[in-house]
Amino acid sequence: MTDTELRVSKIENGTVIDHVPGGEALTVLAILGIDGSGGEVVSIGMNVPSDRLGKKDIVKIEGRELSQAEVDVLSLIAPEATINIVRAFEVIEKHHVTRPETVRGVLSCPNANCITTENEPVESRFDVLDAGVRCVYCETIIDGSIASHIHST
Ligand code: CTP
Ligand code: ZN
Repeated sequence: MTDTELRVSKIENGTVIDHVPGGEALTVLAILGIDGSGGEVVSIGMNVPSDRLGKKDIVKIEGRELSQAEVDVLSLIAPEATINIVRAFEVIEKHHVTRPETVRGVLSCPNANCITTENEPVESRFDVLDAGVRCVYCETIIDGSIASHIHST
């Protein structure tokens, strides 16, 4: 797509998460804890035609950088994602996500008796498997969609 056909406006400062699988943009926002109530300026393209992916989602967030923990969880649902850091309308950094060995925080263990879900100051931690993730504390496996196991905070 050329600039004259740009579907979602360029941003001045912030982060563009590109090459997200079509239909996963709202999961990306959930991972980042964005539901609109925080006042973030966000633009989304969903199921945009893409040469590489057929169709893709794009999420643009003004004035926000992502933590490594957020990028790690993002890589599970969007393994082809590109994270672009934008300053003064220019892409100044471009990162391809890589699949981590473990993910910390962001996800909640589905086991109600897990130490990470009790009122203890223990951050969740999951080993990343070929299919799904496994809690390092209680060994509960989340397979299938991780979307419903994202912290609400
Ligand atoms: N972008 C943006 N605002 C800017 C600059 C770039 O929203 N000020 C977006 C572009 O629309 C694109 C992404 O950030 O979706 C990456 O920009 P760029 O690297 O210029 O595009 P490509 O070269 O097409 O990226 P890639 O090779 O990663 O596909
Ligand atoms: Zn657990």
